[in-house]
Amino acid sequence: MRILAALASVFGFGLLQAACSAPSGSAPPGSAPSNSASSVATRPAPAWLDKQLSPDQRAELLVSALNQQDKLSLVTGYFGVQQAWNHYNFKEARPQSAGYVPGVSRLGFTAQWQADAGSGVATQREAPPALERTLLPSGILTASTWDPPLAERGGAMIGNEARATGFNVMLAGGVNLMREPGNGRNFEYAGEDPLLAGTMTGALVRGIQSNHIVATIKHFALNDQETGRSWVNVLIDEAAARMSDLLAFQIAIEQGDPGSIMCSYNLVNGVYSCQNDWLLNQVLKRDWGFKGYVMTDWGAQHDTVLNANHGLDQETGVAETGKYIWLDKLSTAISQKQVPQARLDDMVRRIARTLIAKGAVDDPVQLAPIDFAAHARVTQADAEQGIVLLKNQAVLPLTVKNKRIALIGGHADVGVLTGGGSAQVYAPGGNAVPGLGPKGWPGPVVYARSSPLTALRDELPDSTITWQSGADLGAAASAASAADVAIVFVTQWTAESVDFPLTLPDEQDQLVAAVARANKRTVVVLETGGPVLMPWLDRVAGVVEAWYPGSQGGPAIARVLSGAVNPSGHLPVSFPRSADQLPRAQIVGDGSPHDAQFDVHYDEGAAVGYRWYAKKGLTPLFPFGHGLSYTTFAQSNLSAHLDGGELKVSFAVRNTGKRVGQSVAQIYVSAEAGGWEAPQRLGAFGKVELAPGATEQLTLTVDPRLLANYEPKRQAFRIAPGSYRVSLAPSAAPAARDAGQTVTVTLPERVIAAK
Ligand code: BGC
Repeated sequence: MRILAALASVFGFGLLQAACSAPSGSAPPGSAPSNSASSVATRPAPAWLDKQLSPDQRAELLVSALNQQDKLSLVTGYFGVQQAWNHYNFKEARPQSAGYVPGVSRLGFTAQWQADAGSGVATQREAPPALERTLLPSGILTASTWDPPLAERGGAMIGNEARATGFNVMLAGGVNLMREPGNGRNFEYAGEDPLLAGTMTGALVRGIQSNHIVATIKHFALNDQETGRSWVNVLIDEAAARMSDLLAFQIAIEQGDPGSIMCSYNLVNGVYSCQNDWLLNQVLKRDWGFKGYVMTDWGAQHDTVLNANHGLDQETGVAETGKYIWLDKLSTAISQKQVPQARLDDMVRRIARTLIAKGAVDDPVQLAPIDFAAHARVTQADAEQGIVLLKNQAVLPLTVKNKRIALIGGHADVGVLTGGGSAQVYAPGGNAVPGLGPKGWPGPVVYARSSPLTALRDELPDSTITWQSGADLGAAASAASAADVAIVFVTQWTAESVDFPLTLPDEQDQLVAAVARANKRTVVVLETGGPVLMPWLDRVAGVVEAWYPGSQGGPAIARVLSGAVNPSGHLPVSFPRSADQLPRAQIVGDGSPHDAQFDVHYDEGAAVGYRWYAKKGLTPLFPFGHGLSYTTFAQSNLSAHLDGGELKVSFAVRNTGKRVGQSVAQIYVSAEAGGWEAPQRLGAFGKVELAPGATEQLTLTVDPRLLANYEPKRQAFRIAPGSYRVSLAPSAAPAARDAGQTVTVTLPERVIAAK
């Protein structure tokens, strides 16, 4: 009750009262007093609330009961922040939240309270303690687990905190593919491969929505860089888009069934995403049969008529008067017959149907205490499975022989780094390193209060662990030379609305080099939002990629280093050796004037990430799929056969080492006749835990679209008849594939409709 009281003081007494007194199924908290829970309960329930009817029927009944003003109101969303620049400042909006859409209390239809994002319930701007929430690791870390059930548990956890703090629409998950390793939002996404990213994001969405709230997949589509994000025009041909970025969305939608989707800021082939008929009406709603609603990214609306007619269902993030506001502009456009009334009805029907189908109407959000202890276990499990051991020359795990350990840099004495922007979650205890980074948006830099140093001391009570901040290279080097092993933490803060160089900032490369010179047994722990260059790689004995590991990042890192956890994370992205290995050595548009539209040509087409490296015969620094363990695995008996038209791949995995460990099996497919954008694609994957000596037989199904090319004329994927290689490999590196096993299978022609 103490937490409830604290929350109530932030949310206002009204919410607590409503939350504590409103029986399930009555008017949602936040309804206007004249339409309070009790007044709704005493009137005959409106027909649309009849739970015996289907969501479609109920939405239809609601639409027929709404007047035009109600309808316009349901498709217009406001910024939820309490800031001077927010003209509206609705008192019913949740404190410092992303969005608010008023409900129709007269008919008992819920308001929509929207919060970012995929790592937890975010807060816009610095948060008071009552707005602190459990922070999951970044999306790219969760993708590194290659473990969909784990992603689903994480989603369920953040959905629970969303509900408990009054949100029924989460603006998560992000599934934009990593085309630009410098994209400031890579930390929010799930990597570079459509199957992995789509599957992991779909699982997160399932978890969120298991709380009877809506999840919003984003940013649709091809919003793969932040530089000029509102005026970059992405040029890509349809087949390439359908086989890469759009396929990631398609898979995530199939697997997660998100209630809504957020169209992005950028233009695609000359048309803003939020008024792009091809993307919204044809691909999403016609081909994929999406029954949910499309909301804009905040401020991504441009032209009322084009937005409405080309598939947008809800405008969001209104903060200023007189600008883009559907409430007025759509009304005028309808009366002038530029937008059909049926279109507005369809928007409202989609929104209502979604909130009903997901349970947000029948099970209104209720303020409740957060079980921070239980949620800490969820976020720590995620971090422990997604931290990637990149290099290990017999230095890890730290053994009892490591009596003297020098820990250096990265603020590892107090916390772990988090990503910035709208996804910023303030973890319990607030910012461990205040005063860093931009004072305004998208800052500040926030460190979650979870100390790797303290956690490592707890893990290794018999070792002496010294601490150096890394600010003084000489002091860092002396500490390293006096130790049996040196562990250097390096960080790169990344954030929404900016892109970043691939080089570590603040001369941290020099720090690593100085420490490595002083001690050969140097381990580098990276906390980064995406790939970075490692000029010191050959000089260090170990490298651990901890990404942004969330509010239990300290213990998770410590337990990987000590060996209490056997690492099982694998890269969901390739790490380049240098920027000139990339399709674009520099992010296009850097330095271009505000608002001046520019083109970026995705000439690599669907050859994103490892596919690009394979096509060009390039060897990255670390390949997609790479990740080491403290045990060893042997994979054998690979076979592939058609079963009911589906390609099934079977094999055995054995733990040949001495420790329990988890193996990630990766199936790569390639067409012997060529004709693909690249020599290979990830076709399936599976993760299995094995005791020492144990063997497990696995059978995975290859998604047929990954054996096909998209043919725009047919509006379908088509598998060409012929011979295909199926490889079981530890990563996407060609050498890894050659060292693995390969079988060949003959496939008949198959056409898979775009749907
Ligand atoms: C971001 C979205 C986010 C929205 C609301 C935008 O700046 O691009 O991802 O959901 O803000 O905070």
